[in-house]
Amino acid sequence: MKSIGVFDSGVGGLTVVKELIRQLPNENIVYFGDTARVPYGIKSPETVIRFSIENILFLLKQDVKLICVACNTASSFALPVIKNYFRAPIIGVITPGVREAVYASQNKRIGVIGTKGTIKSRTYEIEIKQLDPKAKVVTASCPLFVPFVEEGWLSGEVVLNVARDYLKPLKAAGVDTVILGCTHYPLLKPVIQQILGKDVTLIDSAKQVACEVKKILVSEDLLNRGKGGNNSFYVSDNPEWFSGLAQRFLGRQLKNVRKVNNV
Ligand code: DGL
Repeated sequence: MKSIGVFDSGVGGLTVVKELIRQLPNENIVYFGDTARVPYGIKSPETVIRFSIENILFLLKQDVKLICVACNTASSFALPVIKNYFRAPIIGVITPGVREAVYASQNKRIGVIGTKGTIKSRTYEIEIKQLDPKAKVVTASCPLFVPFVEEGWLSGEVVLNVARDYLKPLKAAGVDTVILGCTHYPLLKPVIQQILGKDVTLIDSAKQVACEVKKILVSEDLLNRGKGGNNSFYVSDNPEWFSGLAQRFLGRQLKNVRKVNNV
């Protein structure tokens, strides 16, 4: 029985896995977290593209039928380049989030936050403009958010002050919709919402990504008809660290995270 392959630079892609499990409980999932080479958010496009190709090749060896790039940085830099290299369908996290944001925004002022790499690539901006040329897009990188989330700093004065500073340009532009363009940011939703105000819609693309995966599996007749739900988790380093953080991202503990050396 073929599986859905998911990869991320580390642990953040588990937010997407959580949604996939919720929407597609009969599917098997193989997850790869590139914990030996995380973070991707500060690396060059060439490096992120090379890592992404290696991760995809690893997943293809696990007999997957579809690949989900559950990392915004990899989706921004690598997906436009590599999506046609492989026969298996490859879904990223950008397009589903863009679609939802364009649909949600009333005033056509959309904010995007992400890693330095994601923001520098301008992929979100380009895709939003393609859907709605009149939209005004304001972006900001928030590099301290990833370590905050991984260290469990999800609230408190320090986090609020940093977030206030990062989000200043978005607030000044009067955006009514903000894409949380990084796997980790949904965990900081309460802080981000507090600063931007309750009327701003925060877009967490995981739900839309899972919908998109489902749509493709249906249209390509790839849905698992038997009983699935067998999920495997691989990392390139430090399985204990990954297991420890899984609770925060996936909402449950993970045993049997396997370390692989061949990526
Ligand atoms: N997974 C990355 C992303 O969504 C964040 C962590 C990293 O920088 O590797 O962009």
